[in-house]
Amino acid sequence: MKYSAQVEKKLKKFKTQKLVLRPTPISRLEQISAQLGVPDLFIKREDLTGLAFGGNKSRKLEYIMQDVIDSQSDVVITWGSVQSNWCLQTAAAARKFGIKPILLLFQTYETEGIMDGNLLLDFILDSDIRIMDAKKGQVVKAEEVEALLEVVQNQVVEWGHKPYIIPIGGSMVGGSMKKPLGAVAYVDVYLELRRQMESLNKKADWIVLASGSGGTQAGLAAGARLCGDDTKVAGISVSEDTKGFSQEIREISEDVMTCLDLKTDLSEEDILVFDDYIGAGYGTLDKNVTEAIKMMAVHEGIFMDPIYTGKAVAALLDLIKKSIIKKDHTVLILHTGGTPVLFPYKKGIEKFLTKS
Ligand SMILES: Cc1ncc(COP(=O)(O)O)c(C=O)c1O
Repeated sequence: MKYSAQVEKKLKKFKTQKLVLRPTPISRLEQISAQLGVPDLFIKREDLTGLAFGGNKSRKLEYIMQDVIDSQSDVVITWGSVQSNWCLQTAAAARKFGIKPILLLFQTYETEGIMDGNLLLDFILDSDIRIMDAKKGQVVKAEEVEALLEVVQNQVVEWGHKPYIIPIGGSMVGGSMKKPLGAVAYVDVYLELRRQMESLNKKADWIVLASGSGGTQAGLAAGARLCGDDTKVAGISVSEDTKGFSQEIREISEDVMTCLDLKTDLSEEDILVFDDYIGAGYGTLDKNVTEAIKMMAVHEGIFMDPIYTGKAVAALLDLIKKSIIKKDHTVLILHTGGTPVLFPYKKGIEKFLTKS
């Protein structure tokens, strides 16, 4: 049996809830390809998943919501930054199954106009929103929110409800989640994109994406190795240093393989993390990112968010410039969504794009 068929068979053993319109499209970036002299530059539109303005988190939630439903919980609790795409997607998915979302939102960066972007959408979803101050420029870690989660969890139990805690990003084991379900979803996405590229008679040399909690990258990397492909999965870190983060991603990948009951060795090359593009910290906007956002909009009519895919594409341009990614390579950008976050960043975007 081909490796990919074996992986597919293992994935079929997982029950899921349907949230995603699949396959999300892949298209060639015609104008940007011509400009950069990289003929085989493609984008996979995970921003078009169909749930709450789309994004990679819809994929993860197909697996996670099944676990929430199986556990007979009626409240989900999760956390993220104040404009978190993860929290928005979780709230929307929960509402679809009649489950109440509680969102702990940390102000890890400053944005203007609080009731804007994802926060506005969280509010429309009638989420129980709790906003807290936090250290700027860093993603809040599980250890930091543990005490708070316990308080909220006890409160939910006192109300007579059953809570399910989902760790930030839905990537790793933790809270009520006993398997790295979000990352498992991205093994499935790897198979999907592999089939799509095959139908174009292409094979990706590189998949480039933004990496936050690492689950998306971990799932794709596990998928590529389990299929026996040499596709490089390049994670552009939005907050963490390469050393510690690549270890975390490796652990998630290994947990994914254990969970699929499949095994292959991961070399250092298999978990590629670039931390040179974090800039002034998580959630901070800079000129390169803003210009990448403009370039994608002006030449392809595609909008990217300022925290994740905008950063990944700014990084890709630099990796091509430095010949780390060669012009004759086949490159697939994974657009992971999050576009509502463009709006609360309006002042910064205007500042960087206004010619003086
Ligand atoms: C829009 C967007 N892209 C990418 C990511 C990164 O995904 P992961 O947390 O799986 O690394 C996130 C995570 O929050 C996100 O919201």
